[in-house]
Amino acid sequence: MLIRYKKSFKKIAMGLLSYMPQEKELRTLRETIECYENNDERQLYLWKIEEDIVGVVGVAIGVKNVEILHIAVNPSYRDEGIGTEMIAEVTKAYPDKDVVPGAETTPFYEKCTKEAGKGCRL
Ligand SMILES: CC(C)(COP(=O)(O)OP(=O)(O)OC[C@H]1O[C@@H](n2cnc3c(N)ncnc32)[C@H](O)[C@@H]1OP(=O)(O)O)[C@@H](O)C(=O)NCCC(=O)NCCS
Repeated sequence: MLIRYKKSFKKIAMGLLSYMPQEKELRTLRETIECYENNDERQLYLWKIEEDIVGVVGVAIGVKNVEILHIAVNPSYRDEGIGTEMIAEVTKAYPDKDVVPGAETTPFYEKCTKEAGKGCRL
């Protein structure tokens, strides 16, 4: 289930974001999370399974587009379709906008969209 970020999830969100290659430094990670907390055009979502938060997806909301800036899943839960489902749920959350990948999420986004004809849930 996709849920909106709130400050009580800060540590777990930072832990998940740190799986992104460009978010390895603590200073960068802090700036990233503050950007999501303080900017109305940014929104962070978490993926919850029962009581566990196992994924994160962050977007920049533009006039026409929603750009996926960050996406990461806890390694213990990878290859179960969660990354794909998070993109599908973000797409559903913004029906009037085009969801597009950002520079750091393009490889996975493109893999998902290529799979779309082969039973991928996008
Ligand atoms: C990318 C990521 C979110 C995918 O999450 P997931 O829940 O495992 O995704 P799904 O189960 O829906 O899809 C798994 C498929 O995506 C592929 N995949 C994983 N990372 C990928 C990447 N960076 N680029 C392209 N494909 C990728 C897997 O090899 C797998 O392929 P297969 O179905 O052919 O075996 C996860 O691997 C992750 O957190 N990676 C580290 C963070 C990161 O690099 N994010 C940016 C990705 S561009």
